[in-house]
Amino acid sequence: MEKRGNFAGKLSAVLVAAGSAVGLGNIWRFPSLAADNGGGAFLVIYLLCVLLLGVPLIWAEFSVGRSTQLGAVGAYRKLNKHWGFIGYFGVLAAFLLLGFYYVVSGWTLEYFVESVNGNLSNYSTPEQYRAAFENFKTATWKPLLFAWAFILITHFVIAQGVQKGIEKFSNILMPLLFVILLVMAIHSVLMPGSGEGLKFFLKPDFSAISGRTVLMAMGQAFFSLSIGMGCMVTYASYFNRDTNLKATGLQVTMLDTLVAFTAGIIIFPAAFSVGIFNAGEAPMAGPELIFITLPAIFNSLPLSMLWSAIFFLLIIVAALTSTISIHEVVAAYLNEEWQIKRRWANWISTVGMFVVATLASLSLGVLNDCRIFGLTFFDLFDYVTANLLLPVGGLCTSIFVGWVMEKAFLDRELTNEGRLSGKIVPVVRFMLRWICPLIVLAIFLDSLGII
Ligand code: PFF
Repeated sequence: MEKRGNFAGKLSAVLVAAGSAVGLGNIWRFPSLAADNGGGAFLVIYLLCVLLLGVPLIWAEFSVGRSTQLGAVGAYRKLNKHWGFIGYFGVLAAFLLLGFYYVVSGWTLEYFVESVNGNLSNYSTPEQYRAAFENFKTATWKPLLFAWAFILITHFVIAQGVQKGIEKFSNILMPLLFVILLVMAIHSVLMPGSGEGLKFFLKPDFSAISGRTVLMAMGQAFFSLSIGMGCMVTYASYFNRDTNLKATGLQVTMLDTLVAFTAGIIIFPAAFSVGIFNAGEAPMAGPELIFITLPAIFNSLPLSMLWSAIFFLLIIVAALTSTISIHEVVAAYLNEEWQIKRRWANWISTVGMFVVATLASLSLGVLNDCRIFGLTFFDLFDYVTANLLLPVGGLCTSIFVGWVMEKAFLDRELTNEGRLSGKIVPVVRFMLRWICPLIVLAIFLDSLGII
């Protein structure tokens, strides 16, 4: 067995976990879902899901991973031999999730390249940007090549090993990301007419809320915090014994939520300012939101391609630290469960990712007619992982840690064997036993129209 890696510093635990959490989910997925589902009202429900489900579950996953020092499958099974299925479930979710995640990551890479070479400035109206994006994403080869490139970049970072690759990378890139985001947000709020956008994003209109909206907000909370598929379990297995799980979980949750919020502050004021959304109309968004809105905004600025290149670089950074973490779930599984050397485990997951990402990418073009339940592979992978697999994974983890594991388990992990205060542990246990399962079940039943 190869020696197991570890993250060295305290800060590293926060940064690598935040690197996983902060990604396309915050910058690409959150704003388009919010735009489609009532703006401020979606934001409120999302925040409730983060608080009531996200925080207890991130602590539960950290506890499972750090206590066993194993990846998702091995960790659950070591704690109880009947519960290894949660880990397998996570590996499956990781595969499907990466299928569409790599495709969107590839788009960001392509938009970065097009900004650097100036091609993006050839268009001027939002309609032209929309048409250009439609042409690009439905083409066969170009999006595919960019998705493959992204897979290979992820592969080579992981090949550097846990400490050299993942940790070093996150330590440099995450702070850079926060700085760029902040600059963009300030710029956006200062654009003329930005107030309408702020109002749309921040003023809740609860009449726009339905059972489906709530399901989407819950799915987005799981997706954004990287919980429900063993990713935080796998990362916590590299934490050291002194890592304060409570503080780390809270910091990661806050950073992640702050980035999603800031992305909203960047996108909505700017979209209203350049007239992509109009006051009083329900904005049309969808997955193309950032690829149409942002280039159109940048185009109205001096040095437009510089802004655009910086912004897409930022999204690439965010996506990369997330793809690394998801890829790692699969690679750690092959390495630990099948005793396959890390190098080969990494290659096998990479080849698997090529297959699913290819399917997802082509499903927007030549394979558009191949549909399951009326959804393309791309939409199916997105919908099923976020709204079904991750919440079910989270539900199982809350039942496992809340009911199956003995009380001392959470106590031990959250207090570092008594060295930290344990006042909050009974509350966390109560949340895991009752609140999390009931909320997830209620949202599922409601969206199926049963309650
Ligand atoms: N949290 C990432 C994002 O918001 O983009 C995506 C993600 C990473 C989901 C890892 C799930 C996961 F396990």
